Amino acid sequence: MSNGKLPVRDVFSSKFGVIAAAAGSAVGLGNIWKFPYITGVYGGAAFLFVYLGFIALIGLPIMLSELTIGRKSKRNVFGAFKFLAPGSAWKLVGVLGVSAAAMILAFYGVVAGWSIDYVAKAVSGGFGTKSPAEMESMFFRFIESPVSPILYQLFFMVMTMGIVFVGVKDGIEKYAKFLMPLLVLIIIVLDIRAVTLKGAMEGLRFLFNPDFSKLTGDGILSALGHAFFSLSLGMGTLVTYGSYVDDKNNLPLTALQVTLADTAIAILAGIAIFPAVFAFGIEPSSGPGLVFITLPNVFQQMPGGYFFSILFFLLLTVAALTSSISILEVVVAYFQEELNLKRHVSTIVAGVLIAIVGVFCSLSMGVLKEFTLFNLNLFDLLDWISANLLLPLGGLFIALFVGWFLGRKRVEEELAKGAGVIPWLLSVFIFLVKFIAPGAIAIVFLHGLGVFNFG
Ligand code: PFF
Repeated sequence: MSNGKLPVRDVFSSKFGVIAAAAGSAVGLGNIWKFPYITGVYGGAAFLFVYLGFIALIGLPIMLSELTIGRKSKRNVFGAFKFLAPGSAWKLVGVLGVSAAAMILAFYGVVAGWSIDYVAKAVSGGFGTKSPAEMESMFFRFIESPVSPILYQLFFMVMTMGIVFVGVKDGIEKYAKFLMPLLVLIIIVLDIRAVTLKGAMEGLRFLFNPDFSKLTGDGILSALGHAFFSLSLGMGTLVTYGSYVDDKNNLPLTALQVTLADTAIAILAGIAIFPAVFAFGIEPSSGPGLVFITLPNVFQQMPGGYFFSILFFLLLTVAALTSSISILEVVVAYFQEELNLKRHVSTIVAGVLIAIVGVFCSLSMGVLKEFTLFNLNLFDLLDWISANLLLPLGGLFIALFVGWFLGRKRVEEELAKGAGVIPWLLSVFIFLVKFIAPGAIAIVFLHGLGVFNFG
């Protein structure tokens, strides 16, 4: 179907709708759960600065590349490559994208389920006067249990499917337009609380005052991987969303706005968390448990903590939802356009299949812990393969496709539709996607394969 004439497709109805949906995809667990904890693990500001460099030099150009491919083809990620490069192997990049989407959503839904449970715990005053050790055992008892995290995960998947089921304009766009401003509001309230705590300055210093001696090779590489994950790049999410953007839209401006929004929210999340962590004398480098184990302890000691803990986990859930719909949409658009399924059927088939894998991910925290591959349980395996392998690999091919296959002229044609093209900026963009982005990603892989040790 995707090689024939353009199918009739849904489109975003406004510029704000495009930005809300795309920023909604980018801003998620990556910003609020992962960014603060990896910044903590890798030493704070120095990590942040490297991350910002990757965002500007690699993230932004690849985001623009994805939007360009999407709008030019007006197809799902597999159909897009098939249409723009007929008869070639480029469509395998689409296969990679759809597979990565399914894997990511499987474990993403599990973590989102945890955050719903923590909203419930916060509301019922469940953090009470628990000690840090009790908080930790409460968290692990919960995620290892074979029933309740699965119920929350399924509940989250049903919400995700419900929104995608309704469609692009009436589902994804409508909810993103409502949920994103809500998210910004919540995070600002949390920031005001955090910076007015006694001892907040130390946290801000940790976040903004770089000590480059703390930077390790692993930290640099994680910064690159996280740039992909956080901006939703490398698996065709923004190809898919780009395919719903009308020709009048100024794509470079949209890419810039979404990148800035995602980065700003990550920094705001850092501002909400580190001052509080330092003010209450807690280790900033406590890892993935930072928001589920460490923060509840912080809330417990903070004036107004009951209220702010509810707001925080609500924020996490909302952010996860606007991202999960974008991940599911990659698979749904593929099923719909390539397998000729109706949207409703695609949503149910894709959602149910992914939810089933998600159930096993959740079980792999507890009863199925023993089943490991390369020493990783299913949850960690899917996280590792998708974030460290598939997204950067997808990003590499997307950059090469735009830089070398489409080439300057065809890119210019597409970008000129919605904006005047500034020649030197276009040259910078083409240079970045031709050389810099693929080169940097190649370095990550060589490091990953152990060919050399970076740092
Ligand atoms: N960007 C999302 C986050 O930061 O949580 C996660 C994500 C969404 C990754 C979509 C990849 C993707 F294609």
